[in-house]
Amino acid sequence: MTMQWSSFGERFTRRTGSLELMEDLGEALTTESSALFLGGGNPGKVPEIQERIQARLAEIAAHAESVDRFVGNYAHPKGELRFRQALARLLAREYGWQLTAENIALTGGSQAGFFLLFNLLAGRFRDGSQKRVLLPVTPEYIGYADQGLSESLFVARQPRIEELADHLFKYRIDLDGLAVADDIGAVCVSRPTNPTGNVITDAELAALDEIARASDVPLIVDNAYGQPFPGIVFVDVEPIWNENVILCMSLSKLGLPGVRTGIVVAREEIIDALMRMTAVMSLAVGSVGPVLVEEIVESGEIVEWSRDFITPFYREKAEFAVGALKRELEGFPFRIHVPEGAFFLWLWLPGLPVTSAELYERLKQNDVFVISGHHFFPGLEADWAHRNECLRISFAQSKEVVTEGMRAIAGEVKRAFEASLGSE
Ligand SMILES: Cc1ncc(COP(=O)(O)O)c(C=O)c1O
Repeated sequence: MTMQWSSFGERFTRRTGSLELMEDLGEALTTESSALFLGGGNPGKVPEIQERIQARLAEIAAHAESVDRFVGNYAHPKGELRFRQALARLLAREYGWQLTAENIALTGGSQAGFFLLFNLLAGRFRDGSQKRVLLPVTPEYIGYADQGLSESLFVARQPRIEELADHLFKYRIDLDGLAVADDIGAVCVSRPTNPTGNVITDAELAALDEIARASDVPLIVDNAYGQPFPGIVFVDVEPIWNENVILCMSLSKLGLPGVRTGIVVAREEIIDALMRMTAVMSLAVGSVGPVLVEEIVESGEIVEWSRDFITPFYREKAEFAVGALKRELEGFPFRIHVPEGAFFLWLWLPGLPVTSAELYERLKQNDVFVISGHHFFPGLEADWAHRNECLRISFAQSKEVVTEGMRAIAGEVKRAFEASLGSE
């Protein structure tokens, strides 16, 4: 007899884009296969960072007091205090923001932080009203899509597309007519954006900040790839924070996804609410990540690690990947989103004769893993052909994997276009 799940169970055991992605990733990492994995969001292996993490682990292991703080105690439900203090000082030093450890809460990965924030700020309210989260530009991060305790938690807007030279393009926020309706509980944007590599400009972010403040709803900025760490940003932009901004950060893309440390920087009232939810759901947040990086946050070295090792590592990979994809797709209709940050190429295939979901399946049959673009439009109601014409391709892997992967992707794309010409 099959189990009957509760509504909650039914809702959260569906086959989601996040599940598909993480299952593919888990299998690729645990099986000895020759699969080309250009799918999930696993960070690349930056040798200098790996060495430093190893050294830091050895240092912790050598001191009983550090080991105790590492694994021997439950942390405060807001997260490990010394780390939060060090981070508040770092952000104040770097950007002049007026904040303390009381403006920072940790979560079990920023994914869990988004779950708490979205359902705190949107969904059903006591007066019977229903609020949603506005995503001012899609495509937007796949991981938000299925996080609502209620249906239709998101409402999203289509971007303007700016076509650039040399097969590139850029999404721009369509600020004309962008308004925060009464049923909006928060505005959210990832910067750099996963999946596109877009970095919304300072002017676009300032406009969102103003619109959100004028409407008295928080602006959530997902800074998982941004500054001051991990710094996977290739353009010159400024981060922002103020009492109306909820800035979400993570240790994952620094090379530490296994420690599951997410960081929320926000006004105290929001931090307090997160703390209460953490105490109920998990008592405390893990200390391994915070204790591991606390000293380099205190000393500011984490900024140097990012600037000196991580940014150049991914910048070079982005240039390499764009070169490889352009070479392979020569003569076919394609555009790549200008890679300004994060570690994905967002490939747009205008007029693609099959859906991107079908292309994903065909590639998977050949052990090549990407993510179909259609997953990245949570909350977009418009029937837009574009959403079935894109693929997200990670370039965090080795040059060999990227080269072979791009060749295989281009091969499948060409077959799709040629088959449709042949059938005309
Ligand atoms: C834009 C963005 N936000 C949040 C996350 C979640 O990261 P984590 O839960 O590992 O902190 C990811 C992971 O890929 C991401 O790409």
